[in-house]
Amino acid sequence: MSAEQLFKPFSLKSLNIKNRIVMAPMTRSFSPNGIPTADVASYYQRRAAGQVGLILSEGTVIDRPSSSNDANIPHFYGEESLAGWKSVIDSVHAEGGSMGPQIWHMGVMPNHHSGWTPSVPFEGPSEYNNPNLKNGRAMTEADITESILAYGRAAADAKRLGFDCVEIHGAHGYLIDQFFWDATNTRTDQYGGKTLAERNRFGVEVVKEVRKQVGEDFTIILRLSQWKPTHYDYKLAKTPEEMESWLLPLSEAGVDIFHCSQRRFWEPEFESSDLNFAGWAKKITGKATITVGSVGLNGEFLAAFAGESSQPSSLDELLRRFDRGDFDLVGVGRPLLADPHWVEKIKEDRNQELVGFSKEALGVLL
Ligand SMILES: Cc1cc2nc3c(=O)[nH]c(=O)nc-3n(C[C@H](O)[C@H](O)[C@H](O)COP(=O)(O)O)c2cc1C
Repeated sequence: MSAEQLFKPFSLKSLNIKNRIVMAPMTRSFSPNGIPTADVASYYQRRAAGQVGLILSEGTVIDRPSSSNDANIPHFYGEESLAGWKSVIDSVHAEGGSMGPQIWHMGVMPNHHSGWTPSVPFEGPSEYNNPNLKNGRAMTEADITESILAYGRAAADAKRLGFDCVEIHGAHGYLIDQFFWDATNTRTDQYGGKTLAERNRFGVEVVKEVRKQVGEDFTIILRLSQWKPTHYDYKLAKTPEEMESWLLPLSEAGVDIFHCSQRRFWEPEFESSDLNFAGWAKKITGKATITVGSVGLNGEFLAAFAGESSQPSSLDELLRRFDRGDFDLVGVGRPLLADPHWVEKIKEDRNQELVGFSKEALGVLL
């Protein structure tokens, strides 16, 4: 099957991209003291030159004293870090590419293997990162308010620096997701509650603040996942109705595009149909969606951290779902980490030149 349909342009508010391929956000830890270097700018510039439609940056943390557990993860605050990001977006634009930063607060985290820790304890809805790990403190209402404002400032900075959109990281067990999950959100104030709809409040307030800071015309992407790094098969929303109670308030708060993270895009979300997460999110909200998870590869990404390699695989099932209108955009992670030319190879049917993914690619900025 030809991938031609992925090469139609897409426009939504401030975002105007030449094809449907989105580079998924991937942490690289190549920004000492939180400052993206010239090598980081060149890494993203190569993806723009390689015809990626939209580049999402690696997660980049907001202005809270314990928003990160790694000294080499970029900040999205402070003069030097923002100057680094300015050169990233200028380099991407110079190649005709488009890009948004993924703004991130990790919440309560395990300590990093490097031994580096932030100056103050990790913060989250409770002390827990997951039911088996307590490693931080429960946020006060003042901490919550300050964090929401910090997301807003980061989004305003993204717009001011010239980025084409912003992505809020609400997935994978980090701060916003810690509020969604009942195992980590045990609060008894208005940010907690028995239902997912009640625990949605923090996420909704973050989206509203970001919308307030960037105005109506700037594109806001929200990344969500049902799964957690410690609980791969977990589902926050166990039924389509519960998913409605989660996504509709976020949509009304100002999300333009839902980025629906799965480990394998072809897995159905609920038993009643073969729709995946992006398919359900689009059906429920009517908003544009991004699918992601093992596109073009035969192994999933968490196994990649354990050293597993993946080989190129067919795009036919992806294209079948795309043609059916399940989603608008397609997130691609490891293939683009390993090969800045992946998009051109797909476009030109140069399948024999695809390189797959091996763990060695993580150690360098190719
Ligand atoms: C090295 C690496 C770092 C990642 N870092 C992030 C991140 O910072 N933020 C995020 O939302 N997802 C992150 N992910 C998940 C990817 O965005 C993507 O969802 C995942 O790799 C599945 O896509 P793939 O199968 O095409 O690789 C990371 C994945 C990898 C491989």
